[in-house]
Amino acid sequence: MPATGPIPEPATRTPVGNRMSLRHHEIAESGHRILNPYTEEKLMLLGRICRLREGQRQLDLACGKGEMLTRWAERYGIGGVGVDLSEVFLAAARDRAAELGVADRVNFERGDAGAYRAPDGAFDVVSCIGASWIGQGLAGTIGLLRPAMRAGGLMLIGEPYWTEPPPEEALEEIGVEAEDHASLAGTLDRIEATGMELVEMVLADGDSWDRYAAEQWFAVSDWLRSVPGDHPDAADMRAFLEHARRTHLTWIRRYFGWGVFVLRESATAGRREEPRESAPTSR
Ligand SMILES: C[S@@+](CC[C@H](N)C(=O)[O-])C[C@H]1O[C@@H](n2cnc3c(N)ncnc32)[C@H](O)[C@@H]1O
Repeated sequence: MPATGPIPEPATRTPVGNRMSLRHHEIAESGHRILNPYTEEKLMLLGRICRLREGQRQLDLACGKGEMLTRWAERYGIGGVGVDLSEVFLAAARDRAAELGVADRVNFERGDAGAYRAPDGAFDVVSCIGASWIGQGLAGTIGLLRPAMRAGGLMLIGEPYWTEPPPEEALEEIGVEAEDHASLAGTLDRIEATGMELVEMVLADGDSWDRYAAEQWFAVSDWLRSVPGDHPDAADMRAFLEHARRTHLTWIRRYFGWGVFVLRESATAGRREEPRESAPTSR
């Protein structure tokens, strides 16, 4: 069900701070399929870990260009719904669904994911990959997704973490507060405090960070060369490029981790769920 009411001004957040508008993202990520520090290999590994089966349904909030839903629909025969604010990204998602022959099984809707209300228990997998501001943080986003997850279902959260305590300068340059994120073990604590169990994870690494960040440099550089110098977005995009490149090399690669955490409801005493099919051994 799409969100009702006016759609808010696009959020000015990214996986690494809040310095860019949605419009700037659309330019910088024009060539990306995955709008996060993830590679195709990691995305497909995550799909195998989730033990997806034909006919299952996934809700993906802040779905971007829908690469996760469309690729998993093609590979595993799932269907689902993606919600995002960006018409540009949603158009790319629908094109991708048509290209992969899964357009009859995946729907992409424009809306504020923070206000999206799905029918209770309607989805086998619920996810928010790299946009936990929609729920004002990790715990809030888990709370947003939880009602839509069927009993025994899985929840996927893409979230940054600190690889080591960041100095003040890193926080200022990245544009986040220290408590916005936690260490890996601290992230586990935050997950467990919500009553969810962490059952798997696939983390980004330096190379997958470069695919997300460095690919933006080339795209923005190309864009700047393609528009007149007095284009209304040119000064912002040039400033973004210079800042993003230096921040990535100086701080993000060292202090900022990112990964997708696979969760399910903690087992409650006396309640036994049917075991999920075991994971394939070849990863
Ligand atoms: C970092 S990208 C991640 C996209 C996608 N999950 C992926 O991994 O490729 C964040 C996405 O959140 C979307 N977004 C930001 N705020 C939103 C909101 N309030 N409601 C829906 N989408 C939002 C942006 O348009 C963007 O596509």
